[in-house]
Amino acid sequence: MGERATLERDLRTEAEGLVASDGPDEEVLDGVVRLVHEAHPSWDWSGIYLMKDGVLVLGPKTAPADHDRIEVGEGVCGTAVSEDRNQVVEDVREVENYLACSIHTRSEIVVLIRHEGVIVGQFDIDSDTVGAFTARDEALLEELAAVVAPRVASLAGS
Ligand code: SME
Repeated sequence: MGERATLERDLRTEAEGLVASDGPDEEVLDGVVRLVHEAHPSWDWSGIYLMKDGVLVLGPKTAPADHDRIEVGEGVCGTAVSEDRNQVVEDVREVENYLACSIHTRSEIVVLIRHEGVIVGQFDIDSDTVGAFTARDEALLEELAAVVAPRVASLAGS
């Protein structure tokens, strides 16, 4: 097994362990965000937005961010929900409705978290490097999204 595949397997196992623990939702999701963030040196900000009453509300994150409420259709995060698909942005300077959280951010990935077919939140990751996110990152985050979905649904109150 390659180094990257081992890392991905370990992340999945650790995330599953956290989700299965009896820790509170916020603590569990904060742990998952930190795990994936720390495993990727080019990721400069990582967080989970929760879908609450039709609005994206910032949940667990590695650092505070300017946009703690985002309407559906707004920015990269809100577009993921309105278009019902993940977003991988190579260079945020080319996105017209981008909502800046840091002037240093260059690329961004948003991966939707669905529970019982309904969008309950999303992973949002920013990098100061152009084109930091690959299809493999998206696939990993999709797997983790399936793992954390019940906890996200619970924290979002949906
Ligand atoms: N860039 C996002 C806003 C969230 S911050 O990156 C944390 C957007 O355009 O929706």
